[in-house]
Amino acid sequence: MKLKVAVMFGGDSVEHEVSIISANQALKALDLNKYDVIPIYISKKREFYFGEELFNLSNYKDLDALIKKLTKIVLVKEDNKVKIEPSKKGLFSKTLGEIDVVIPVVHGTNVEDGTLQGYLEMLNLPYSSSDVISSAVGQDKVVMKCVLQQANIKMVDWFWVYGFEIDDNKKEIKENAEKLGYPLIIKPASLGSSIGINFANNYNELIDAIEECRQFDNKVIIEKKLENFREVNCSVLGSIYKAKTGVLEEVNIGAGFLGFDEKYGGSKKSTKSSSKGMASTSRQVPAKLSKSKEKEIKQIALKTFKQIGSSGVVRIDFLIDEKDIVYVNEINNIPGSLAFYLWQPEGIDFSSLMDELVEIALNKQSKKEKMIFSHETNILSKYEPGSKTGKKI
Ligand SMILES: Nc1ncnc2c1ncn2[C@@H]1O[C@H](COP(=O)(O)OP(=O)(O)O)[C@@H](O)[C@H]1O
Ligand SMILES: [Mg+2]
Repeated sequence: MKLKVAVMFGGDSVEHEVSIISANQALKALDLNKYDVIPIYISKKREFYFGEELFNLSNYKDLDALIKKLTKIVLVKEDNKVKIEPSKKGLFSKTLGEIDVVIPVVHGTNVEDGTLQGYLEMLNLPYSSSDVISSAVGQDKVVMKCVLQQANIKMVDWFWVYGFEIDDNKKEIKENAEKLGYPLIIKPASLGSSIGINFANNYNELIDAIEECRQFDNKVIIEKKLENFREVNCSVLGSIYKAKTGVLEEVNIGAGFLGFDEKYGGSKKSTKSSSKGMASTSRQVPAKLSKSKEKEIKQIALKTFKQIGSSGVVRIDFLIDEKDIVYVNEINNIPGSLAFYLWQPEGIDFSSLMDELVEIALNKQSKKEKMIFSHETNILSKYEPGSKTGKKI
């Protein structure tokens, strides 16, 4: 019998469409000789859908029309299995299938940040991506920076504020900003795709930028803005037990800030980017770096991956400043296109990458099942309500 592998994607995130593209690539890469491949689409309303139409990317042009053709489903745990059931049960409706393993291909808040992972944990389904806490740490850049700082991993100097408290903290913000030195870059803690990011050359611009940024997130990060920096990304594949690095890519070569429009050609207008159109999306694989720099970056990537406790295939993004100092910028626990193009040159094609993800999911689950999570005995069996011998718990 073939393993039943579900690819879950979409969700209530600004990166909904990007996830559809990534998932469609992943669905095509899964080997049909080995797996029963099950696409599960999470709509922007957080409802789950199932249907053959999900395999064809051209069906997503009109999402409302697509949803009408699909079957709305719920996942039900029964007899130690997870079953796919139609959400509206008629007299003759039957189970649509079962799931053995999930490959989450979701990006951004409300899905990639531990939300979907928590749901899968409740169902006790093996899944390839980072677990609840690692996913959450990766999504919130404030928490991520604190966790990485604890392992002495270098990051650009920074501080953060709650956007709704700036009126009470202006003095402190001004002092902290001066300590970093202008220009600064202002980012929301939990978004992605450059949404809500702005720059400031002085205090007034900083307050404006925080005010804009706080529309997207409570937590606002203020970071030293690097000039003439390089952006290099490194994918890591595995789990805390065993992990490896892919080839490095350099992105956005010599083009400055990369906004949402430049990344995806969309129109999430919120950044005052100084970017230079599509040319700025340039990428070079492998990145042109000295052997020692490459080794250094890969080592930091593995250390970062383990410190966060990630799993599956992730992408860790670095900034390299004029003095050649390497800083971790962020971790993408589920990167766009699952970073498959960083594994191909290593001899791992997309299909083999999916095989490895399935294996990681099953391996993690078997390790988890060996851990002790609950006691065999029920302490309540000895509890007698009202009796004096009833022990205090
Ligand atoms: N400290 C910095 N100095 C200069 N540019 C930066 C800095 N941090 C980020 N950037 C630029 O902004 C882009 C988006 O920032 P990033 O932290 O990666 O946010 P997102 O999660 O939205 O991708 C980066 O790709 C880089 O071009
Ligand atoms: Mg980024």
